[in-house]
Amino acid sequence: MVKSTALLAFAASAMASIATAEMLHYGSPIEATVWTAGKTGTVSWTNDCSDLANTTFPITLNHQVAGQQVQVPGTGPIGTLDCGSAGSATVQVPATIPQGSTYSILVVNGAEQSYSALFTINSSIPAGGANTTTPSATVSAAPSSSASASK
Ligand SMILES: *[C@@H]1O[C@H](CO)[C@@H](O)[C@H](O)[C@H]1NC(C)=O
Ligand SMILES: *[C@@H]1O[C@H](CO)[C@@H](O)[C@H](O)[C@H]1NC(C)=O
Ligand SMILES: *[C@@H]1O[C@H](CO)[C@@H](O)[C@H](O)[C@H]1NC(C)=O
Repeated sequence: MVKSTALLAFAASAMASIATAEMLHYGSPIEATVWTAGKTGTVSWTNDCSDLANTTFPITLNHQVAGQQVQVPGTGPIGTLDCGSAGSATVQVPATIPQGSTYSILVVNGAEQSYSALFTINSSIPAGGANTTTPSATVSAAPSSSASASK
């Protein structure tokens, strides 16, 4: 019981630190948002960052891999936003990304990482398209043979 209390306390403090690290409060995309590959999408935010010297930031597109949000391979910034005041920006959704429901956007200001909720992108490229087969060739980096190198 002591253990679970400690875990809860840890989880609560971890959540609190994530919340305070967020620079932007997104109005869009939210969980119900659907963007379409090759079309434009709208990013909106409801707060401002006018206390910063530079309020212009690139917006990157991420997807979930093994529980982590990582930048979609082969994509650069899909747009920029200026959070000098609350507002919205139009972004270009890459045409080459597959169907998925765990996309998010990210804006980074130093240690502050503002992720959106996970949302859906409709695409004619099916989920788990051609590119998901290539990474398996690089997963051979964890043999335990180096542990027997003691002399
Ligand atoms: C503000 O940040 C943007 C994006 O990182 C960059 O392109 C721009 O040069 C910066 N402007 C200044 C004045 O530092
Ligand atoms: C596969 O990866 C290549 C190179 O990163 C990229 O150009 C292409 O658009 C990707 N295809 C899909 C279906 O994601
Ligand atoms: C996305 O795809 C689903 C399933 O095909 C469809 O019902 C929905 O209308 C599409 N949404 C948009 C915005 O294209």
